[in-house]
Amino acid sequence: MTHYNLALLGFGNVGQSLAQLLLDKRDELRDKYQLTYSITAIGTRSHGMVINTDGLDIEAAIRLAVNGSDLSTLSTKCRPKNVFDLIRQCKADVLFENTPVNYQSGEPAISHLTFALEQDMHIITANKGPVVHAYSFLAKMAETKGRKFYFESTVMDGAPIFSLFREALPAAQLFAFHGILNSTTNMILTRMENGESFDQAVTYCQKIGIAETDPSGDIDGWDAAVKVAALVTVLMGIHLNPADIQRKGIREITIDQIQNARLEGKRWKLICSAEKKNGRVMAKVWPKLIGPESPMYAAAGTTSMVVFETDILAGLSIVEQDPGPQTTAYGLLADFLNAVKP
Ligand SMILES: NC(=O)c1ccc[n+]([C@@H]2O[C@H](COP(=O)([O-])OP(=O)(O)OC[C@H]3O[C@@H](n4cnc5c(N)ncnc54)[C@H](OP(=O)(O)O)[C@@H]3O)[C@@H](O)[C@H]2O)c1
Repeated sequence: MTHYNLALLGFGNVGQSLAQLLLDKRDELRDKYQLTYSITAIGTRSHGMVINTDGLDIEAAIRLAVNGSDLSTLSTKCRPKNVFDLIRQCKADVLFENTPVNYQSGEPAISHLTFALEQDMHIITANKGPVVHAYSFLAKMAETKGRKFYFESTVMDGAPIFSLFREALPAAQLFAFHGILNSTTNMILTRMENGESFDQAVTYCQKIGIAETDPSGDIDGWDAAVKVAALVTVLMGIHLNPADIQRKGIREITIDQIQNARLEGKRWKLICSAEKKNGRVMAKVWPKLIGPESPMYAAAGTTSMVVFETDILAGLSIVEQDPGPQTTAYGLLADFLNAVKP
């Protein structure tokens, strides 16, 4: 039986779901993987920080977070000065970094992950920022340290994408992909097909928790562009900045355009695509009319999908239905098990 100490930085939707999933899977991890764990630290920005190197009360931490209470009441150590102090003191083997994404620079998550590697931890994140802004730096540093840097949940939540190429498709050359990678815009377009205005559809997405108060990151295609950049950078081996991707969101699509498309038997979708040719990549995020001959036609609501074209498998599709913090948490758990497997 091997025991791991875990630290959770960021304890919002994803961090709490991960804690709950770890509790739900505790027996399975012990019986099937000979693995036990303790959570020794949780850090937030404005809801306190907790360190207990003997393992903190996870249920109590979730209860406090759900009530919006301060977590530091659970601490057995004096309050850490900041997140770096928390990472240094918590004696964790693995850091899960689930703070909000910074599309422009990837910070402060890159610094959190770098510092955790310096403390010899595996680093696992659902945060896209460090992948698009510091993938090769963090991957090289992790390799030098003999630790893992995994980030399955950054694209299509818990669906296997990066681990698929890493584990199941050795020596496959990816030369193109296309798909629907932003579920919020897909939900907005689906609601507009059903008669809602753009504003009503956005309000609905905010109500069910898939769009932020300022939804422009989704609507203007930034979230999709960051995911395309992550896939290209990691799977095609060419660093791509999200700002270099041809990008247009769904803001200008009118209800009339959507209804006319329906009359023609077509649908508007925000399509992500990338193609590698002669060592260069052309990548795009753009609204497109899709007919029923495409597998993307049937991807409605929050469904996302991607079709990979490799030198061997010409059209390999991954479809994910009903994503949410729980599926994101599963990607993090899978990364943990893959990172520590013998
Ligand atoms: N939600 C999903 O299903 C999903 C799917 C894929 C990827 N992701 C990614 O997962 C990450 C977390 O998403 P989420 O939905 O859980 O966000 P969230 O609910 O807003 O939670 C963010 C957490 O990070 C904490 N935090 C913010 N800045 C911090 C800092 N500088 N140091 C320490 N803690 C900090 C927040 O603390 P306070 O609450 O005290 O401010 C909060 O606990 C994001 O990068 C997101 O893009 C999410």
